[in-house]
Amino acid sequence: MEFHANSRPQTGQPTCLEQNTNALEARARALLDQMTWGEKIGQMHQVDSTGDQVPNHVAALIEQGQLGSVLNVSHGQVAQEIQRLARQKSRLDIPLLIARDVIHGFKTVAPIPLGQAASFNADLIRENARHAAQEASQAGINWTFSPMTDVVRDPRWGRVAESYGEDPLLNSVMGVATLQGYQGSALDHPTSLAACGKHFVGYGASEAGRDYNTTNIPVNELRNIYLPPFKAMVEAGLTTIMTSFGDIDGVPATANDWLLRDILRDEWGFKGVIVSDWDSTVQLITHGIAAGYRDVATLSIQAGIDIEMVGNCYLGYLEDLVTTGAIDGRLVDDAVMRILRLKLSLGLMDDRPVTTTPTPADQEAATKAATRLAEQSCVLLKNDNQTLPLKSKKIAVIGPLADKAADQLGTWVFDGDPSRSITLLDGLRDRFGDTVPFEPVFTSTRDHNQDRFDAARKAASTADAVILTLGEDAILSGEAHSRADISLPGGQEALINHLADLGVPLIAVIMAGRPLVLSSVLEKLDAILYAWHPGSFAGPAIARLLAGDAVPSGKLPMTFPRHVGQIPIYYNHKNTGRPPSPSRVVHIEDIPIGAEQTSLGMSSFHLDIPYTPEFPFGYGLSYSAFDYDKLTINSPHITANETLLVSVRVTNKGAYDADEIAQLYIQDRVGSITRPVRELKAFQRVGIKAGASEIIHFKLTATDLGFYNRKEVFVTEPGWFDLWVGGSAAADCHAAFEVTAA
Ligand code: GLC
Repeated sequence: MEFHANSRPQTGQPTCLEQNTNALEARARALLDQMTWGEKIGQMHQVDSTGDQVPNHVAALIEQGQLGSVLNVSHGQVAQEIQRLARQKSRLDIPLLIARDVIHGFKTVAPIPLGQAASFNADLIRENARHAAQEASQAGINWTFSPMTDVVRDPRWGRVAESYGEDPLLNSVMGVATLQGYQGSALDHPTSLAACGKHFVGYGASEAGRDYNTTNIPVNELRNIYLPPFKAMVEAGLTTIMTSFGDIDGVPATANDWLLRDILRDEWGFKGVIVSDWDSTVQLITHGIAAGYRDVATLSIQAGIDIEMVGNCYLGYLEDLVTTGAIDGRLVDDAVMRILRLKLSLGLMDDRPVTTTPTPADQEAATKAATRLAEQSCVLLKNDNQTLPLKSKKIAVIGPLADKAADQLGTWVFDGDPSRSITLLDGLRDRFGDTVPFEPVFTSTRDHNQDRFDAARKAASTADAVILTLGEDAILSGEAHSRADISLPGGQEALINHLADLGVPLIAVIMAGRPLVLSSVLEKLDAILYAWHPGSFAGPAIARLLAGDAVPSGKLPMTFPRHVGQIPIYYNHKNTGRPPSPSRVVHIEDIPIGAEQTSLGMSSFHLDIPYTPEFPFGYGLSYSAFDYDKLTINSPHITANETLLVSVRVTNKGAYDADEIAQLYIQDRVGSITRPVRELKAFQRVGIKAGASEIIHFKLTATDLGFYNRKEVFVTEPGWFDLWVGGSAAADCHAAFEVTAA
């Protein structure tokens, strides 16, 4: 299945909010007409409600009609009580939206979204989101704060783990698939959740990869890189959007009427609900753009925030602002109508059950889907001398992450159940026998203690191969958990060095929430399988891959830097006026003594590290190998309203039946603004038998070739394009074509 960045994803489904009928509109209006200002503003108020019972202050707000939604409920009986209070104790009986961060699973945990993206498998991601919704609806949750489609080019940022990586198309496709999984085929089904595209917008560009930091995004980057995934989700029926903490070019997203009204509402026609992020309204004061709480309420409602998450500015000041005429009351009415429409669309005002009871078959299906996604998310980065798949059962498992049921789940797993985890050690012992020796060495990945190094060496020396389970504890990525040094933490590199001279093949299975810098240990490892944080079923998924029962197929959703000093480094970069090339760079060690100031490369490179990445976007090895040839296009010239038909032959040259993720990239050679050297425009996962070939087909429309120009208008300009198809952003199977004026 293929997707295109700016065209409507082939869902065929009317957007969930477009299904709103006139009857629903009339019901919302009739309700609004009965509401006092206090009740209206109550719908815009959201509080945190944790614990196994309804807190008294929450109950009081509900009964007074001062609460429209809660977040962090995770017990069915609490949800039942909340809705009972709303239906029986409040004047207008309006049920609440019950929200939770169901990010990559609920009890059953799938890989972190960055890992999911590595599968390039939208269908499987959609399936996992559907299971997450089924599980979350057991707890009465009807709104999830997911998917996060912040494009991220900086792996230092802790929340890269929650993203789908550096590419706009991959974020678009995976964001759409995830929201479709959550929202299901009918929003009012008992297991459907309202999805929430976040964080609108540009949060992934936080300077220095430091969370919550300022962003400075030029409008053409905003339009062509950061906004497209949200536009794709809005077109696919996204029902809610959450604003980002950050400021965009000096105006925090939560107070940014250009983003929320001009673009989201007026240009894209988004009809859903906009919710602030946690306290991001009150933080307008800290940003220095609001003088006080009254200001916060004014700026937020004027920008278009419908629901204030956790802050009290709406509840405290909005009614006075309206009744004194400082704010047009229609802004409040419009916001409340959107909230009521959402609640009606979810079926909350009718007979939708508050909680659901999944069947054992549901649980089994969820397990199977999460295991399969973990397997397809793993990326084989290195495999010297066909070290993998394992040739012997005599393995030793060494390292801190082999048996960590919670850490393998990764970040943002509030409701993840570690008791459901099958650890990598479990999986390897199930597959290779209970006698497989295990030496954790460290208490955590942050541990530097070398006391167990000799025990590790002893275990390794008795084995035919060592499975080194390395990476990051779950706590080292996620919100507020950014790292300036993204090498293996703790004493892990020292451990590798301690084992490297044994002559036993070292196979690293790395679990991490981000791309790591591996340059100082790369040569000492014979094979590297990058598992991200693989979720509940790391064990069976990775054991199957290591044993050769399955073949690695994942591809990198993000560029891996050689050194943190290269960041930001990403594949869809601009060419610059002086691009580096092997002939135009000089390494610091080779600078002649007395070299003149202008004698060195005079191109865009660093003296002390190569200008190329460690591993490029889209890269991933297999136990097989694939060749691309016979690339054909239906015409070397197409007009802007014609479709380019592309076909290519992919041959599996190896001895294993395997999947390949074929990727199609373009370059617009000349544009009215500078264009990236490559842009991913389509991809397909295709299974090919050992030794066989498949002809695969792509279609490119003019929309796929377009971009937002200096005037912020989406255009497809005439001119020549290069096109490549292959197994990574370094694809070299090439054709060229020209777009001519219609
Ligand atoms: C957090 C996150 C946001 C999350 C919200 C509610 O601070 O930024 O992604 O959905 O608060 O937990």
